[in-house]
Amino acid sequence: MRKNIVAGNWKMNKNLQEGIALAKELNEALTADKPNCDVVICTPFIHLASVTPIVDEAIIGVGAENCADKVSGAYTGEVSAEMVASTGAKYVILGHSERRSYYGETVEILEEKVKLALANNLTPIFCIGEVLEERQAEKQNEVVAAQLASVFTLSAEDFGKIILAYEPVWAIGTGLTATPEQAQDIHAYIRSLIVEKYGQEVADNCSILYGGSCKPSNAKELFANPDVDGGLIGGAALKVSDFKGIIDAFK
Ligand code: 13P
Repeated sequence: MRKNIVAGNWKMNKNLQEGIALAKELNEALTADKPNCDVVICTPFIHLASVTPIVDEAIIGVGAENCADKVSGAYTGEVSAEMVASTGAKYVILGHSERRSYYGETVEILEEKVKLALANNLTPIFCIGEVLEERQAEKQNEVVAAQLASVFTLSAEDFGKIILAYEPVWAIGTGLTATPEQAQDIHAYIRSLIVEKYGQEVADNCSILYGGSCKPSNAKELFANPDVDGGLIGGAALKVSDFKGIIDAFK
């Protein structure tokens, strides 16, 4: 059956020294008190090569927050999936709403990124989610179904390697969280789409994380839902006590 996962997304926070200190502190905390779920930290590119050797990979996986949609070559400033993998990172967040809205990442671009990540043995954490106006117009199901087009061209075998994260944009960094019912409803809908496309077994094995103002105080009730398999955590991943509080929701 599918895994429970708590993944942190550091976004554009922490310089190198601060990031190393945060990773060390988290590693110490989770070595002393082992988690009951998979734990991943996704950091800015420049941290990856320094962070992977200092965390116990049996306890903490490391990932990037993005990768290029091209293999290699004259793409100034870009970082390829192969480069990410060469640091020892095992995961990559793709399709985060901030990448979609601020950097124009489309369904087609994301399809390329997902393929390149998989070709380099990285596990994509593929994000989907609607903005507030779409939720108010009750269009959230349509929106996530359209976003899934980037990963629904994968073979069943490859689809089985990805993690999904449902992040309602109106809940990201706002302090507004989806209610456990809202999260369960849309996670169950997302899983039903996977059943239609790939069948029950693939759907049952797919971890679907919730993201958006997830905190120690609300993680337990969100994760208690049958179709919510953990969280993708922004702000609360920047402090070990908060992040561990969310990880401990699985205890
Ligand atoms: P917050 O937890 O800060 O709302 O961010 C969620 C997120 O965007 C994780 O990818």
